[in-house]
Amino acid sequence: MIKKAIILAGGMGTRMSPLTKAVNKQLLPLYDKPLIYYPLSVMMLAGVRDILIIVNKGQLNQFKKILPEKNNIGISIKYKEQLKPKGLPEAFTIGEKFIGKENIALILGDNFFYGQSLTQILKKNISLKNGAKIFIHPVKNPSLYGVATLGKNKKVLNLKEKPKNSKSNLAVTGLYFFDNKVVDLTKKLKPSKRGELEIIDLLKVYKRKNKLKAEFIGRGGSWLDTGSINDFYDASNFISTIENRQGLKIACLEEIAFSKGWIKKSDILKAIKFYGSCNYSNYLKNLI
Ligand code: G1P
Repeated sequence: MIKKAIILAGGMGTRMSPLTKAVNKQLLPLYDKPLIYYPLSVMMLAGVRDILIIVNKGQLNQFKKILPEKNNIGISIKYKEQLKPKGLPEAFTIGEKFIGKENIALILGDNFFYGQSLTQILKKNISLKNGAKIFIHPVKNPSLYGVATLGKNKKVLNLKEKPKNSKSNLAVTGLYFFDNKVVDLTKKLKPSKRGELEIIDLLKVYKRKNKLKAEFIGRGGSWLDTGSINDFYDASNFISTIENRQGLKIACLEEIAFSKGWIKKSDILKAIKFYGSCNYSNYLKNLI
């Protein structure tokens, strides 16, 4: 069972261009709310209430202002700074104390997930006892991502980080479930040619032990990696289209917490006061 999650909202090493990094010095909004709300909402939908957010050096105060450790959304939030990005698996050494003896979910702070089946997929897989789980989604341009080749019964046959030519179009999304061994296994990893620890190398260790499983986020679901400027604006447009059509918000943290019974009406009233006069507050008012 996974009860804890790390959101890596910090520098993702070489994944971001200097321009994106400069823009990302600020707490980015994705359409009508901060980017961090989206991966956080995914973990909340999975029922995880104990969260460590790893941020870039210098970003701590900005994050704490909008998502304080003492919050109105019924979860525990802790923060750590990543001084210098050394690759995604570093999340497990930075978060070693937080993880303790538990299994752990990792979600990248710039990944956006959406779809009716999402909550079901999360609930089904959150019970992970041992090994690791990756979540797969088809993409047009696999060379931008970690790519998996799957065999019968979703068996992972091969994994490759940003392959130039790939027969598989199945990207490994930025959501991973691991057992507690992940901390020790990360410590044994060696940096890749680009000088970073690679999540794909970590997954390969699990695969070699026959402990890696894959789950599909099928074509009815959406996954967007907002690490590039284009994807970032595509995701914003996507969210605005859905929200304005339905009148329902994606990643409204208070709504999720309320529906799960983690908070009361009085907490929502506090949140409305905290956010001040804006669309998001109006939405919360309608909720109660
Ligand atoms: C990272 C991982 C890659 C994964 C992607 C998902 O890539 O290394 O395997 O598919 O996140 O967003 P990056 O975006 O850091 O280049």
